[in-house]
Amino acid sequence: MKVVALVPAAGRGERLGAHVPKALVPVAGTPLVTRATRGLLDSGVVDAVVVAAPADHLGDFESCLAEFGDRCSVVAGGADRTSSVRAALESVASGAFDAVLVHDAARAFTPPTVPCAVIEALSGGAQAVVPVLPLADTVKQVDADGVVTGTPDRSSLRAVQTPQGFAEPLLRRVHASAPGSATDDASLVERVGIPVATVMGHPHAMKITTPFDLQIAEKILVEQP
Ligand code: C5P
Repeated sequence: MKVVALVPAAGRGERLGAHVPKALVPVAGTPLVTRATRGLLDSGVVDAVVVAAPADHLGDFESCLAEFGDRCSVVAGGADRTSSVRAALESVASGAFDAVLVHDAARAFTPPTVPCAVIEALSGGAQAVVPVLPLADTVKQVDADGVVTGTPDRSSLRAVQTPQGFAEPLLRRVHASAPGSATDDASLVERVGIPVATVMGHPHAMKITTPFDLQIAEKILVEQP
């Protein structure tokens, strides 16, 4: 199965409070986007990576990714995550790959077992696959005033990670037909009624969003094999 991974990395990372785009923030000297790309290519299941970068930082991203040669290309991302994924997808020739992974640059410490499990599920016939973890916290639904309106049954809830995997024609179809934006790509597939399978995620695939997350990465995740 030929696999391309799209890495949306065009976020500003305001919640991280950094002065550069989040994906360029180094952890132990290596930028998040370099770590995320290396993890995908080293997993052995990804043939090529396309990174969507902020339009005004393309050169910086190209420098951070130069070590991967022609296995990695950089395109200008869009105003939100969905448009960044779409820009990366449009840069890939239709039909050149069987499957597409979409992986947040911010999940830079994702172990190779996760993309491998996603690709295995796609090889087994799934059209769309997401890595998930059970929730430790009880989750409440609230109204606009913050007053609790319900408590969904925790046993049926999952926290969703990336890389999310798709049959290539399906991802193209849902991105071509879905206007607006979504916080992940699987939700575009859900909207057209196609089942989305799940595989086990990993705690190290956490999304680095806040300064606290960055400290976890610097103190714990870089030490992991
Ligand atoms: O904002 P959030 O943390 O959900 O972003 C998830 C991923 O989407 C990040 O890797 C971020 O760089 C990317 N993103 C993007 N283009 C945007 C906004 C976010 O590629 N305009």
